[in-house]
Amino acid sequence: MYKILDTEDEVSRYAAQRLLATIAARPEAVLGLATGGTMEPVYARLVGRLQGGAVDASRLTTFNLDEYIGLAPTHPQSYRHYMERHLFARLGLPRENVHLPDGLAEDSEAACRAYSEAIRALGGLDLQLLGIGSNGHIGFNEPHTRFSCRTHVTPLSAQTRRDNGRFFSDPGEVPTHAITLGIRDILEAREIVLVATGPSKARIMAELYHSPVDEALPASALKQHPNVTILLDREAAALIP
Ligand code: F6R
Repeated sequence: MYKILDTEDEVSRYAAQRLLATIAARPEAVLGLATGGTMEPVYARLVGRLQGGAVDASRLTTFNLDEYIGLAPTHPQSYRHYMERHLFARLGLPRENVHLPDGLAEDSEAACRAYSEAIRALGGLDLQLLGIGSNGHIGFNEPHTRFSCRTHVTPLSAQTRRDNGRFFSDPGEVPTHAITLGIRDILEAREIVLVATGPSKARIMAELYHSPVDEALPASALKQHPNVTILLDREAAALIP
């Protein structure tokens, strides 16, 4: 379940390889994708390999984990914009095949229901890629979110808004709410790869290692899943025995 490699670069290469293997095995694979600093080198590696012709990605379908409420897709910090910049535009993926929750939906409850249903209608996620928040969140499932939740609107914790302030020119602009895929949707993926790199993840990775399955630590839900890889560099694994 735990795989520890020396450097962030090795972790990113390994994660990209897992994605490529999934696409090679099933060119019409359905992938669950994440954003954030951890994924930038993963997508850079993946794009490099795909542009080199490693496998054909043109028939992929993707669903992102989350999106801020209230940011337009063109906002530089929206997750739609992030995905365009790091992956979609660089691979020329057909836009009808890529999905993010709609942070501007008028009826967000209906949009949430439709998002989970769209994934299930395609037979579920072949592989879900995850990062982890310093408070243990996966997607934007913050501590004490019910593990039975599907896609839903969530307030962002003060910790998450502080952590993500680094991406905004004015940290006060970090939205207060987001839409996130639920833990239940995440656990239905056939395979899950969680990636954590750097010293800022060492404390939460040690907590996760020792934690029972507990809604206070959302990532601990993964301990119930039969096919999870937790992929760490030495710095993120520093406090794991
Ligand atoms: C992003 C997401 C979040 C991040 C987590 C870690 O789509 O779902 O759970 O994976 O906040 O973010 P970074 O990689 O920026 O430390």
